[in-house]
Amino acid sequence: MDGKFISFEGPDGAGKTSVMRQITADLKEQLGSDGVVYTREPGGNHIAEQIRDVLFDADNTDMDPRTEALLFAAARRQHLIADILPALQNGKVILCDRYVDSSIAYQGAGRGLGEENIWQINQFAIDGLMPELTIYLDIDSELGLQRIAQNRADEVNRLDEEKLSFHRKVRSAYQKLAQENPQRIVTIDASQPLDQVILQVQQAIHQRFSQLF
Ligand code: TYD
Repeated sequence: MDGKFISFEGPDGAGKTSVMRQITADLKEQLGSDGVVYTREPGGNHIAEQIRDVLFDADNTDMDPRTEALLFAAARRQHLIADILPALQNGKVILCDRYVDSSIAYQGAGRGLGEENIWQINQFAIDGLMPELTIYLDIDSELGLQRIAQNRADEVNRLDEEKLSFHRKVRSAYQKLAQENPQRIVTIDASQPLDQVILQVQQAIHQRFSQLF
């Protein structure tokens, strides 16, 4: 497969959306808009978007944590088959907003289901297909939550309402993943000004794929 699979990860409030918007625009300018695919999890296609609606429905407060983990993995499977694999086969650069690491951090650590258990069910879903590069935007949990409260009070979903202790567990799981996978995951300090964060993300992508940036 000729394509390049890059995922973006980070706790809520790390600025992932703004960073990805700029990086997607830059790469489209460089490669043409057909050469770059931005896609998000859970979602990407009509089936996965329906699973997303179930996951984020504010009425579903009684959802069991394992149900939640399985639904994220199910959405991921469909995303992989319907969107990621075809784009990779067509030689595109795929910028994927969250992937398996999100489940390990949020469901494995945040919900306490165990990182290893979540890795196992996701192995079944992805059949070994991991990104070549993962950009991890690291942010202090309190700062991340402050940013959410300031920027998007209007679009808070079921998962955004978790407490500080949940977000701290998520962050330390991400940091552990980054330590254990230094060849795949590049950590960027997301407390820096946005311009600086974007510059460092561009450099990290260029280091891995010298023809980009
Ligand atoms: P979303 O509103 O899509 O955006 P953002 O990535 O900007 O936060 O929210 C995604 C939420 O879903 C976020 O709180 C993380 C959570 N999530 C999981 O808990 N597990 C997963 O596997 C994925 C992909 C996301």
